[in-house]
Amino acid sequence: MKLHWTILWSLWAARLLQQPTVVVQVSGGLLRGTIAPDGTHAQYLAIPYATVRPRNRFQVAEHGPMWDGVFNAINENVRCPQRKGKTFVVGQENCLTLNIYTPLDAIPSSKLPVMVFIHGGAFYDGSGSRHLYGPTYFMSKGVILVTINYRLNIQGFACLGIKEAPGNVGLKDQVAALKWIRTNIKVFGGDMDNVTIFGESAGSASVSFHVLSPMSKGYFQKAILQSGSSLSSWAMQYRPVYMASLLAKAMGHNTENAREIYNLFMNKSDTELIVTRVPRKEGNVIISECLYVPCVEENIDGVEPFLTDIPYNILTKGDFNKVPMMIGLNSEEGYFFASLENDTTIPKIEIEKSLPKDLTFPTHNERREVAAKLHKLYFGDKKISQETILKIAKFQGDAYLSSSILEETEYILKNNDKPIYNYIFNYNGWRNFAKIFSGEPFRSAPGATHADELFYLFSQGLLHTMFESKMIDKMTTLWTNFAKFGDPTPEVTELLPLKWYPTNSTSPHALVIDEELSTSPLWYSQILKYWRQLYSKYRRKS
Ligand SMILES: *[C@@H]1O[C@H](CO)[C@@H](O)[C@H](O)[C@H]1NC(C)=O
Ligand SMILES: *[C@@H]1O[C@H](CO)[C@@H](O)[C@H](O)[C@H]1NC(C)=O
Ligand SMILES: *[C@@H]1O[C@H](CO)[C@@H](O)[C@H](O)[C@H]1NC(C)=O
Ligand SMILES: *[C@@H]1O[C@H](CO)[C@@H](O)[C@H](O)[C@H]1NC(C)=O
Repeated sequence: MKLHWTILWSLWAARLLQQPTVVVQVSGGLLRGTIAPDGTHAQYLAIPYATVRPRNRFQVAEHGPMWDGVFNAINENVRCPQRKGKTFVVGQENCLTLNIYTPLDAIPSSKLPVMVFIHGGAFYDGSGSRHLYGPTYFMSKGVILVTINYRLNIQGFACLGIKEAPGNVGLKDQVAALKWIRTNIKVFGGDMDNVTIFGESAGSASVSFHVLSPMSKGYFQKAILQSGSSLSSWAMQYRPVYMASLLAKAMGHNTENAREIYNLFMNKSDTELIVTRVPRKEGNVIISECLYVPCVEENIDGVEPFLTDIPYNILTKGDFNKVPMMIGLNSEEGYFFASLENDTTIPKIEIEKSLPKDLTFPTHNERREVAAKLHKLYFGDKKISQETILKIAKFQGDAYLSSSILEETEYILKNNDKPIYNYIFNYNGWRNFAKIFSGEPFRSAPGATHADELFYLFSQGLLHTMFESKMIDKMTTLWTNFAKFGDPTPEVTELLPLKWYPTNSTSPHALVIDEELSTSPLWYSQILKYWRQLYSKYRRKS
């Protein structure tokens, strides 16, 4: 009932209060947006950039639709199919839309830098919606912000090695969005040769994949990675047909035949495909539940691949898109994930069963030894329990996020002469909503967790700045400076009194973003250095 009233109110408010923009011509036809309710910018919402049809459900999307008349770009709620709660699925098959936000004075000759944001959500959740990724704080900085949707979960990442489901279509959707932006952004006042892609979590891993993929070449000039990498173990499936067979099995079908799995999936609704859960392996941590994610594609006649080798090989060979980059992480990535565990799962967690899947060991014994050493390093003589939950968080953050992000930096530094800026976000303020919603004991623990930095970049509806306007100003200035100049601190100012230098192989370091700015070695803890050793010895390379 309450929801109904909200919707009615929004519709009514949208009609009465929102002033239309001038009409612009894009590839699909004419469209019109609105002046945002707070009057600070123009918004063009849910512009379709590509089309999914039932027959190409697991394949690359078709060209965007063409329409007659004027398309009203006002829908705030388009998202790709995803689960809400246990059995409820929201979203629509035709979800490939993007949102564009421009300063009010932007005109086609403005040539403003363009920032394209790719949302996170473990490749199974989220959307580019302004409810979470609102543009208000960017709009006074003279840039255009674009946020995009892409297919998620099995719909985006069924990787069966056949023409009908070749894999990575969620990433190919993102490329289609980048192409659309390159073709059309001029009429909104954007510069198609001044595009920065940025993303967080799975969105950051996506940005990292665009740096690697020949398919994305030329569609962006700078890249920002926030807490995710193509090297993160959860961002790659190594045995994709087997992974799909687990879903088939959960639906009662025992087969590892790609064609049979495909026929099965094609006969199921989006809802059935999404609500069916592949049970989590006992003893493993929650991040291991990311199942349908990017993969290395087979060579298939007539299918342009997005990725044909594992990220480690591409990075170390140096065969990738070389652009200036910002690469960073949050000091306590793991709180967010540990808070999703519960009284049933926590006591069952074992380090040996929670090792990232991209570590392989020659013998079972060696695996057990490494696990014992890690247990000692994180927990000392203590057991894994509710009492040591902050240590579980540290383990998850290091193993699944921080170590891979730092490693990506190292490989990029070796093979890219463009500037690379690293940061560690450690700020603990009123808008660390990810940490605040993680509850105790995380809420009162120091540092910043996964996704906390987003709330200092993006606005959320009419939610207050919560006395954080200075930190918001710092963050959006760093990010937009980088988008404009390829340098987050082109000059030292009162707001940003420390020059942020690019890092280098001789002395790898990062900017610590906190109340005060400072610098830190890149590999900033002993335990992270140990992870680096582990990966140099045991990394899976195929
Ligand atoms: C649905 O399943 C049947 C067999 O069970 C198969 O013959 C058919 O091809 C499937 N449909 C699609 C669209 O794949
Ligand atoms: C704990 O989480 C597991 C796995 O996510 C779930 O199956 C279980 O129902 C949860 N238990 C409680 C007590 O919430
Ligand atoms: C990008 O835009 C900024 C701000 O308008 C401008 O100073 C810069 O030269 C542009 N960069 C490129 C590569 O065009
Ligand atoms: C590497 O970075 C450090 C810290 O900014 C700097 O002092 C040093 O001069 C740099 N080295 C090279 C070779 O650029």
